[in-house]
Amino acid sequence: MRISIFGTGYVGSVTGICIADLGHEIIFTDIDTAKLNLIDHGQIPVFEPGLQQILTKNKKKISTNTNPIEAIINTDISFICVGTPSREDGSLDTRSIESVSQTLGEGIGKKKNFHTIVVKSTVIPGTIEELILPIIMKESHKQVNNDFSVVSNPEFLREGNAVYDFFHPDRIIIGSNTPESYRPLSELYSSFSCPKMVTTIKTAEMIKYVNNAFLATKISFANEIGNICKEAGIDSYEVFKGVGMDSRINPRFFRSGIGFGGSCFPKDVRALIVYSKKVGIEPGILEAILDTNQDQPSRLVSLLKRHMDLKGKTIGILGLAFKPETDDIRESRAIPIIRQLIADGANVLAFDPVAMKNFQRIFPNIEYATTSNRVLETDAVLIITEWSEFENLDYTNKIVIDGRNIKKARKNARIYEGVCW
Ligand code: UDX
Repeated sequence: MRISIFGTGYVGSVTGICIADLGHEIIFTDIDTAKLNLIDHGQIPVFEPGLQQILTKNKKKISTNTNPIEAIINTDISFICVGTPSREDGSLDTRSIESVSQTLGEGIGKKKNFHTIVVKSTVIPGTIEELILPIIMKESHKQVNNDFSVVSNPEFLREGNAVYDFFHPDRIIIGSNTPESYRPLSELYSSFSCPKMVTTIKTAEMIKYVNNAFLATKISFANEIGNICKEAGIDSYEVFKGVGMDSRINPRFFRSGIGFGGSCFPKDVRALIVYSKKVGIEPGILEAILDTNQDQPSRLVSLLKRHMDLKGKTIGILGLAFKPETDDIRESRAIPIIRQLIADGANVLAFDPVAMKNFQRIFPNIEYATTSNRVLETDAVLIITEWSEFENLDYTNKIVIDGRNIKKARKNARIYEGVCW
C-alpha cells in the first residue's frame, strides 16, 4: 500500500519507518521541513534506539513531500501523527489536528479514489466525529464512507522502546463506525498475531486515555505507598514484588520513585480530567494521580536536606531525560528538582548521556559535566534517571539521594537515602 504520514515527530517517524519495514511505500509530510530533510538524507529525525537501522534498510520505500496535497493524492491511506499538547487549562490543543484535517479535506477533494484516514494522535473521545470529520467533509465536499473514511488507531509506544513496541503490540485497537472503513487497516496489520479489537471510534479514543491514566495511577499509587513505606522503614520495591505476584495485579509499573514525566502521562491525565468535568463527573482519583506526581520530586530534596544545608553546596545530578534511552526532557522530574536546588542556593553540576543539549535550552546557567564520574566529585549526588551506566559508578564515600533505585549506589554510598525505600 501507499501510505502518507502527517507528522514526523516521535510517533510519526516510528510508525512510518516501521510500516515501511512491513513492505509498504511511505511518504512523510510535515510543516517542519528540517525533519523531512533529515529523512531524505537517510537520518531519523528523533532519538529512538533501533530506528536508524530500520530507516537505512527501508530507505528505498520511504520518501518525503513538502506538499501535503500531493502526498494525499499519491497515497491510499494517511496517518495523522501530529502532536496534541496541553493548553494552560489542561485541555487539548487541537490546532495541528485541525490544520491537518483541513489539508486532508483539500486533498481528498482533488482525488477520485477512496482515501482512508487513520488517527494515531491521542485525541479526546469525540474529536474524530465532532471535529475531524466535519472539517474534512466541509473542505472536500465529499461524503464520509462514500469517498473517504476516518478510523482511530491509538499508539501504545514507549519512548526508548518504541521500535520493539511497534512490532510486538499487546493488542491493536481500531475504532471504526463501519466494517468497510477498517478493512485497509486490517490488511496493514494482517501479519500481527496479537489480538485486534475493533470497536467504535469514540471507544478507541477513550481506550488510549484510560490506558495511560491507569499506568499513571499505578505509578502514583506506588509512590504514595512508597512514601508511607519510607517513613515506616520498609522497602516499597519488596512490597510491590509481593503484591505483583497476585495474578490480578501484575508486578509492572510499580517502580516507586520521583514520579512520571514525559509528553504523555501528564498531558493525557490532564486532558481526561478536563473531559470528565465537561461530561459532569468530578474525577477525584485522576486529580489525585497528578497531585501525588506533582509533590513527589520535592521529596528527594527534602531527604537531601536531612543531611546538609544546601546553600553554597554543589549538588551533582545524574540523569536529566524523563526516562532512560531517550533525549526527551518534557516534564522530566529533573526540572522541578533543579529549580528547587537553585532556589535553596545550591550550585548544580548535571550529567545525562544524551539529554544535556535539550536541557541546556531551559537551564543554560547550570554547569554540565562531560562524564557521569565528574558528577561524583560534588558535595552530594541526586539520581534522577535510571540510565544503566549509573550502575557502574563508584559511589564509595559519596552522599547519594536516589530517586530511581540504583542498586550500586544503595550498596556502596557512605550516606544513602532512597526516596521510597
Ligand atoms: C507512555 C506509555 O507507556 C505508552 O504506552 C504511551 O504510548 C506513551 O506514554 P512513555 O511516556 O514513553 O510511554 O514512557 P513510560 O516508560 O511509560 O514511562 C513514563 C514515565 O513513568 C517515566 O518518567 C518513567 O520514569 C515513569 N515510570 C514508569 C515510573 O516512575 N515508574 C514505573 O514503574 C514506570
